[in-house]
Formats: sequence, C-alpha cells, structure tokens
Amino acid sequence: MKILVIHGPNLALLGEREVAVYGRFTLEEINQALADLAKKEKAELQFFQSDSEGEIVEKIGKARKEFSALIINPGAYTHYSVAIRDAIAAAGLPTVEVHLSNIYAREEFRHKSVIAPVAVGQISGFGINSYLLGLRAAIDLLQK
Ligand code: DQA
Repeated sequence: MKILVIHGPNLALLGEREVAVYGRFTLEEINQALADLAKKEKAELQFFQSDSEGEIVEKIGKARKEFSALIINPGAYTHYSVAIRDAIAAAGLPTVEVHLSNIYAREEFRHKSVIAPVAVGQISGFGINSYLLGLRAAIDLLQK
C-alpha cells in the first residue's frame, strides 16, 4: 500500500504563511504526522511538494506504476488547473483532495474545484486533520 502525497504551490511556506487561515503547522510537521499514522496503518508514503504545475503533472503521470492512491492538496491550482485534473484522470488512481481551509467559506473564486470531479472525495476545512482524515480515507479505500 504505497500512497503519494502531493502538496501544491505555496504550501512549503506553511507555518509562516497566513497562519490565521492555514494554521501554525509547518509542512514538515504535517508530513511527520502523516508518516506516524501511515506507520501505524502499515502504509508507505512518499511526499512531493512543488510550486510548478508542470512538475505536479509530471509526478502524477509517473505515479501510476508505483503508487496505489494519491492524496493531493493542489493549493491554488485546485481552482483552475485542467492540466492537473487531466493528469489525475489519466493516472486512474483513487485520489483524495484535501484542503487545510474550508474553501467554500472563503472568496468566491475558491468555491470551485476543477479537481473534485476526478477525486473520490474532498476534505476541506480541518487544518492538519484534513490530511490525516484524507490518509484514513485513502487507506480505507485500498483495504476494500
Ligand atoms: C488551500 C486552499 C486554496 O484556495 C489555496 O490557494 C491554497 C491552500 C488549502 O489547503 O486550504 O494554497 O488548498
């Protein structure tokens, strides 16, 4: 059970960036919490962060053979990246979309996710727990 966790643009700045919106956890702390949960559940994780749409598309393109599921926080690409959406659809891997903030309680431009239609589901608004719930959901899917 190998799961790829993708963090999109600006998420490397977590802990410093808009802490009132995104919380105080750094990306490393989020990855550590995910790794701890994965260990308990006997899942293997790989983490990937990029600010570049092209790199994310490439990473998803190569994921099909190596991974059995994806967890992705596409950051701002959530709202307009047809390229990432198409990469997920092409990979055909069960995908869980996660967001730290509740994108539906924020600016209107964040209310639309072009990723959601190709994801199994979306978890939004629970801070670090969005990722942990996302990992539980992905593991559950793979165990079925
Ligand atoms: C985000 C929400 C997006 O709208 C925003 O652009 C981000 C982070 C979240 O995790 O809440 O970069 O995906």
